[in-house]
Amino acid sequence: LRGVPMFARLDAAHLRLLSASLGSQTFGRGATIFCQGSLGNTLYLIVSGQVRIYTNSQLGQEISVMIFRDGDFFGELSLLDGHERSASAVAMRTTTTLTLHRTAFLDAIRSYPEIAVSVLEELSARLRHSNTYIEHLASTSAPQRVVRTLLDLADQHGIIEQGTTRINLHLTQDDLASLAGTTRETVNRVLAGLREQGLIQIERARLSVLNLAQLEQVTV
Ligand code: CMP
Repeated sequence: LRGVPMFARLDAAHLRLLSASLGSQTFGRGATIFCQGSLGNTLYLIVSGQVRIYTNSQLGQEISVMIFRDGDFFGELSLLDGHERSASAVAMRTTTTLTLHRTAFLDAIRSYPEIAVSVLEELSARLRHSNTYIEHLASTSAPQRVVRTLLDLADQHGIIEQGTTRINLHLTQDDLASLAGTTRETVNRVLAGLREQGLIQIERARLSVLNLAQLEQVTV
């Protein structure tokens, strides 16, 4: 539990108390964790794995809003406001989660202000991120959105190794397309161009940015 940022500020005694309320659930690659519009009773904390959050456009296209991984939580909104799930969640790889039922989550927030503060900090960061995302969707061309998506992922999930930034996620071109609001063909074309220019490297669904400064300036 110490590794879960939401609980990082709790002392050992409180952690022990809280752990009694936690369950656990594992999802296989591609498994739906829950669907947009369904009733939400559970908060999920990712122990290991990767989860994509998406909504469906009116044309039935999936629009990815976020990718979560180890240490992240999701499914809190419907517990807090009592409405339906605001988006769908799917496991992108085998994903093990800790689960907290609605009543236990709300009790924890009331009992431990440290948890409430952590949740609010995280929700603030997500709202800021959403603003940036909206800005990109509205103001740039599809190829340029692919570049912005790569920069965004490098910022959120990048690990710097010998001057290059490795995006620490398993991503398919379809995943990138649904994040950038475009087609897989466009993603394919843009990635090929960036690779030719020596700006990125792709090895078995692992993407590295070789030159962040140049990628920020590039026009595609
Ligand atoms: P909930 O509405 O219960 O179910 C869908 C979950 O996806 C939601 O809780 C949040 O945890 C997460 N989610 C929805 N929209 C966003 C967003 N814009 N940014 C990050 N996470 C989101």
